[in-house]
Amino acid sequence: MQLSFKLNGSATQWEDVYPGENLLEVLRRHDCWEVKGNNCTNGECGACTILLDGIPVPSCTVFAARVEGRNVDTIRLLGDPDHLHPLQQAFLRHGAVQCGYCIPGMLLSAHALLVRNPHPNRDEIQQSLSGHLCRCTGYLQQIEAIEEMARLPEGAE
Ligand code: FES
Ligand code: FES
Repeated sequence: MQLSFKLNGSATQWEDVYPGENLLEVLRRHDCWEVKGNNCTNGECGACTILLDGIPVPSCTVFAARVEGRNVDTIRLLGDPDHLHPLQQAFLRHGAVQCGYCIPGMLLSAHALLVRNPHPNRDEIQQSLSGHLCRCTGYLQQIEAIEEMARLPEGAE
């Protein structure tokens, strides 16, 4: 079946999508390797998180067919290695990135939180990261990076 949607703001049409395939499989088949996953494939680890119409969701739990006409954003929305987003820079400053496997998903959840609520408190930040497993850190580094962004004037993120 054909799938038409916006990927990181660009109109995208893929012809080789099979009914029943999940979005994670389809994204990675189209070289979106920045979407991590194929770990738990049941929504528990958060590594495959994307933004669907601005809401963080594990892409392994979404049928690809469900994104027809919608907006899908991956970490490429925020920046690239030469032009890191301020939130990505804050993660680096705080030592929040170790192996990096969980980071694209965490950044997208943090970004969605800061768009919705530019000054979240620690509980709200912890809640936003609750769907993400990180085997390298104790989560404190990511929380402190997001808190740094939350202290900025509105719109600075
Ligand atoms: S692979 Fe999707 S949440 Fe774990
Ligand atoms: S930085 Fe390695 S899993 Fe989070």
